[in-house]
Amino acid sequence: MTVTIALGLQWGDEGKGKMVDYLSETADLVIRAAGGANAGHTIVNNDKKYILHHLPSGLIHAHARAYLASGMVIDPFSLLKEIKGIEQQGLSDLRNRIQISPAAHLILPWHRDLEKIREKSPGAIGTTLKGIGPAYESRASRKGLPLALLKYPDLLKQKLSSIFQEFAPFFEKFEVSVDSVDEVHAQLLQVAREIVPLLGDLQPLLDKYIQPDDNNEIILEGAQGALLDINHGTYPYVTSSSTISGGLLSGTGIGPLKIDKAVGIMKAYTTRVGNGPFPTEIQGKAGEKMGKIGGEFGATTGRPRRCGWLDLVALKYAVNLTGVKDLVITKIDVLSDFEKVKVCTAYKLPDGTSSSFFPEDPWILEKCRPVYKTFPSWNISGSLTVDNIDPALQAFIDMIEKYTGARVSFLSWGPQRHKTLRV
Ligand code: IMP
Repeated sequence: MTVTIALGLQWGDEGKGKMVDYLSETADLVIRAAGGANAGHTIVNNDKKYILHHLPSGLIHAHARAYLASGMVIDPFSLLKEIKGIEQQGLSDLRNRIQISPAAHLILPWHRDLEKIREKSPGAIGTTLKGIGPAYESRASRKGLPLALLKYPDLLKQKLSSIFQEFAPFFEKFEVSVDSVDEVHAQLLQVAREIVPLLGDLQPLLDKYIQPDDNNEIILEGAQGALLDINHGTYPYVTSSSTISGGLLSGTGIGPLKIDKAVGIMKAYTTRVGNGPFPTEIQGKAGEKMGKIGGEFGATTGRPRRCGWLDLVALKYAVNLTGVKDLVITKIDVLSDFEKVKVCTAYKLPDGTSSSFFPEDPWILEKCRPVYKTFPSWNISGSLTVDNIDPALQAFIDMIEKYTGARVSFLSWGPQRHKTLRV
């Protein structure tokens, strides 16, 4: 039995979809632990392109089972749409392979309504507008609605009425008309018919798959990236769940001693969507060029991503937060279109000193300026092998390994599975 954590080390969009799909080739069970449809994981397989939001990426392999764990917040309307879309793309036996925790929480239409109002106000985070933050707030205030309620129509109505009492004054204040309790109740009962058969507990599955003397493989798939973690990310410009290894453990209820491997996925440069500090951001036309070459548009929102150079200070912080020992570098081909490649190796702090530590004080972070080392760029041949890695790319890899203490184990240079090299 092996349990592997695979997660993103930057601000999301590191290419987790492709890499989790790749790492899941022989996986028996793939689990999403936290977040919801704010994620957009793209997988290309035999010229078919799948974009998954709630569902774990390993599901594309016909033998893999998928579990949506209790740490998630789930929009049942959009989840059903996602399942139907994937079914139409020809993925077989899907509903027999998916299970959802009855303890994961519902994202209600009002959560999305609330977020839309907030995001139009000063101090907007630049969220994905999927209702993630408000749903986690409801959960933390103990007013949230676990998916199990879809089995109990009367109790569901009571809970909806109770939570709506909290939201109503806000909607009135902003003069926004929203669906009534009866309407939302009816909508939920409609989807409950298809969601309830998918509900199931994780413990019996784990009991079946986590046995010390068998060959089962389980992957815990992270969403977003370490720098968007609610406790350790660039607060308040973060998501509302924990995106680091600890968050994956807490979101699934799997204990730390059950984990065999943790793999961190990083892009050869950095991107971010939404607002918030980004020390190595490239402003203007050069940043746009990187975005264009890298196809940096959100898989969930279509928003152009902000682009910048690789930030080793932030990366080392993420490696420490997540405990990953193996790294996957994705999109190495994008930088081959640049004459020179820059890498940030330290921050110049507002007091004039420099540091190789990512500051926890958000107001210091905002004022940090990157100190760069410049490298020549490299060529990626169509058939990259361990024997023909361009020396410039090897120098880039060596620097990442030396700085972070983690080992670069995979390179990726395109969305297709064959554009991956184990090094
Ligand atoms: P939320 O998760 O929708 O609340 O958004 C909070 C912040 O996280 C925003 O800056 C989003 O752009 C960012 N974010 C959330 N999910 C993703 C993701 O999957 N990839 C990249 N950024 C994300």
